[in-house]
Amino acid sequence: MAKVRPLSPALVSKIAAGEVVERPASVVKELVENSLDAGASRVEVVLEDGGLRLVKVVDDGEGMEEEDALLALEEYSTSKISTLQDLSSITTLGFRGEALHAISAVSRFTLFTSTGELGTGVRVEGGVIKTVTKGPRSRGTTVEVRDLFFNLRARRRFLRSPSTERAHILQVMREYILAYPEVNFLLVEKGDLLLQAFPGGLGDRAALLWALKEEDIVTLEAREGDLELTGVLARPPHARRDSRGLFFFVNGRPVRDRLLAGALMEGMRSRLVKGEYPMVALFLHMPPGDVDVNVHPSKREVKFRRPYQVAALVKKGVEKALGAPSPGVRWQGASLPHPPSSVHGSHWSGEVREERIPFSLPSWRFLGEYAGLYLVVEQDGDLVLVDKHALHERMLYDTIRENWDKGGKARLLLVPLEFQLEGEEGEFLKETAHALEALGFRIQLKGEGLCEIKGVPQWFQGDAVAFFRSWLAQGEPAGEDELMARAASLACRQAMKGGDALRGDQVDRLMAFLDSRGLDLTCPHGRPVAVRLSRGDVERLFKRRI
Ligand SMILES: Nc1ncnc2c1ncn2[C@@H]1O[C@H](COP(=O)(O)OP(=O)(O)OP(=O)(O)O)[C@@H](O)[C@H]1O
Ligand SMILES: [Mg+2]
Repeated sequence: MAKVRPLSPALVSKIAAGEVVERPASVVKELVENSLDAGASRVEVVLEDGGLRLVKVVDDGEGMEEEDALLALEEYSTSKISTLQDLSSITTLGFRGEALHAISAVSRFTLFTSTGELGTGVRVEGGVIKTVTKGPRSRGTTVEVRDLFFNLRARRRFLRSPSTERAHILQVMREYILAYPEVNFLLVEKGDLLLQAFPGGLGDRAALLWALKEEDIVTLEAREGDLELTGVLARPPHARRDSRGLFFFVNGRPVRDRLLAGALMEGMRSRLVKGEYPMVALFLHMPPGDVDVNVHPSKREVKFRRPYQVAALVKKGVEKALGAPSPGVRWQGASLPHPPSSVHGSHWSGEVREERIPFSLPSWRFLGEYAGLYLVVEQDGDLVLVDKHALHERMLYDTIRENWDKGGKARLLLVPLEFQLEGEEGEFLKETAHALEALGFRIQLKGEGLCEIKGVPQWFQGDAVAFFRSWLAQGEPAGEDELMARAASLACRQAMKGGDALRGDQVDRLMAFLDSRGLDLTCPHGRPVAVRLSRGDVERLFKRRI
């Protein structure tokens, strides 16, 4: 008997579904795209359990007649293209005609749709149509997807916790919120409004998502032949410590693309602190023939016909929008008295206290200390107040970031520390163990919810148990980069608490660090490190000048 035989259609559907549907966020993406293609002006997404139990999308788009509703669930059935030629001039988000088919093959699925007449309801379970019903509904479509992968156990195991899945969904929603500013979006879970975006402009939406003021948003425009770039970006020093503020769109379609990200970073290099990413929403527009969107079933990747031209335009556009880099504070002397990168492993506990804080920086004049927290300095005729601790934290944080790539070296504890885990804390700890490990923590989970801390990062000072307590208290998992950033920031704070008063030579080094980075520097939480008052500002305060 022949060993090779065709797979059953049901099995083929399940295999193919895996390429389109990876997790609840892919369901949200496909359904929201369908709603947008249907011309919806309002798209509401409802979740249960971070989308694991339910993803429901309700729109007020054009809807479907019964015949189309049934056809839409078939494999490779679409209203969006019909000829091979159409494939090279796609203007809709969907075109493969497989999303609904794929999703309904791996979930308990219902579609309820109407063109304004009597509506049609279709219930599908694991790819099999169970019932077709009629009922009243205003124009639009509702799709409910319950228990994703209920019939694909292997796939279900790859799904993460509700909070991780929810984080992915939020990111997908942000993409469409930016790409379709005229559409009203809502994301709801258990009656909680997770996201809401009213119709507006791109600037409003970016400000909303990045929690910035309008004036912190820079618009961007550049053109090269029939290649056009538009968009917005958060004015530096506003930045993130992960890449989740990077949004790229090609002809209205959200894409992830290393080339574009690289070109952007290149264009902003002089504006960013190492380890930081900008917040941008960049839209590339080009003739449909210049980009292939049919590279992968998830339609996340694209292929440019002229990739280097595209990259060059992104770099140029960003540089142009930001203007020349700010001069910052430059050294007037030739060399730094203390290299700013040498904090690694240093101890900040000050057995030696010095009254006078020596400054050996040529362009700075130390005037005094205020409230035990601020350094008062004169620089180039300006009065500068420096938040010592914010600056210290920044320097420590940067050192931690720079060092963890080198393997997260641990200092093993002679006597391991123990603490008790509660509820789901063990799960969260397991999920995030790699980030902690990379930072230099060594832990072991014992039975009965006991956790043992065997090692801490070499630079770590302060209370390791307190670090873990606050780490667990955050509970909310996130993407890789964000986890790392959070761990670094927490560890940094613990280390700060462990430190004592700053010694004179340490302050000197802090100032050298500030001097090398410029006064725009912020602490890891985004607060300013230094405030500058010009002579004019001071005179205005005293009403000597208006
Ligand atoms: N919310 C909706 N409102 C109106 N029509 C819809 C909606 N969702 C789907 N349809 C119709 O069902 C068809 C099939 O949808 P499906 O998502 O499976 O394929 P597609 O969008 O054409 O392509 P892709 O697989 O690339 O998403 C669509 O072409 C569209 O005609
Ligand atoms: Mg679709």
